[in-house]
Amino acid sequence: MQNILVTGGLGFIGSHTVVELQKEGFNVLIIDNLSNSKIEVLDGIFNITKVKPIFLQFDLLNKEKVNHFFQENKIDGVIHFAASKAVGESVEKPLMYYENNIFSLVNVLNAMQMTHVNKFIFSSSCTVYGQAEELPITEKAPLKPAESPYGNTKKISEDLLTDVAKVSDLNTIALRYFNPIGAHPSAEIGELPLGIPNNLIPFVTQTAAGIRQQLSVFGNDYPTSDGTAVRDYIHVVDLAKAHIAALKRLLANKNAAKIEFFNVGTGKGSSVMDVIKAFENATGKTLNYKIVARRPGDITSAYADTSLVNNELGWKTELSLEDALRDAWNWQLKQTN
Ligand code: WQD
Repeated sequence: MQNILVTGGLGFIGSHTVVELQKEGFNVLIIDNLSNSKIEVLDGIFNITKVKPIFLQFDLLNKEKVNHFFQENKIDGVIHFAASKAVGESVEKPLMYYENNIFSLVNVLNAMQMTHVNKFIFSSSCTVYGQAEELPITEKAPLKPAESPYGNTKKISEDLLTDVAKVSDLNTIALRYFNPIGAHPSAEIGELPLGIPNNLIPFVTQTAAGIRQQLSVFGNDYPTSDGTAVRDYIHVVDLAKAHIAALKRLLANKNAAKIEFFNVGTGKGSSVMDVIKAFENATGKTLNYKIVARRPGDITSAYADTSLVNNELGWKTELSLEDALRDAWNWQLKQTN
């Protein structure tokens, strides 16, 4: 049984990936500092797979603890989710974001090098493209200056991985996520936004649940079909499965280069109004919303060209926008009951 370290494994995408790893027969070890998740997520994972992952709570900024972990455990591969990810917060606290997201990555890579672990999956983001000139977005699209320190940490991390892969035995795949949404169909795990949600779907479900008064739609004067901004919303379970496909590629030494980049989305763009309608169809709820001004820094439209990830990883999305919204709603109901 191969041992896989999942950093940030109690987070939203991390926890769903742990479930899929366990289903595939991997032995999962989680390091999480619980800064943006809860220990109860471990129970949720167990309730789904009946296998409790090994969990260690410490901060990846603690270099000694990271080194000790790798010296004490035989690790076959690493999936690295641990990072701060709130775009708005990163503008307010750039130093925290650069320190946390970059230094943690450096500590993990150093410890991997020291113990000859060389398979690494990195959680990246379509934010590195900014507003792409051409849609759908391929991996060849030029990268744009980041709109936020958060986005810049993803860009810097990719550059760092590229440089390290050139001069070491590191084999790595960076998955550029589009918009992860939804929850596990079992409603045992899902998104746990702390405080007022930044992202659209938790705000939708909290409004439908009466926790938020009204959803603000940030602008309807974009050059899109209905004036609201377009994104590629991917079910978090589909996204988790893409990590398994990428990991297996590295473990089987099938990667075509020391570092590879894949856009991971559905390939379909949905506007905010599309999401609202799909949510109402999927749940039978009526959503209270109003149109307000655009949110600074938002782009008009982003959705993935998924041909590379489909062909190279043999992975494609299987779940729909409605599936994701229904699962998000069921998860919300579980939180509020
Ligand atoms: C989606 C759309 C908003 C909230 C960011 C990061 C990305 C990833 C996902 C971490 C936009 C609109 C939103 C609301 C709204 N983050 N919206 N009312 O900004 O596309 O992507 O989060 O991994 O890297 O960049 O996602 O969910 O914030 O917004 O109208 O209350 O919904 O304007 O068009 P975004 P989002």
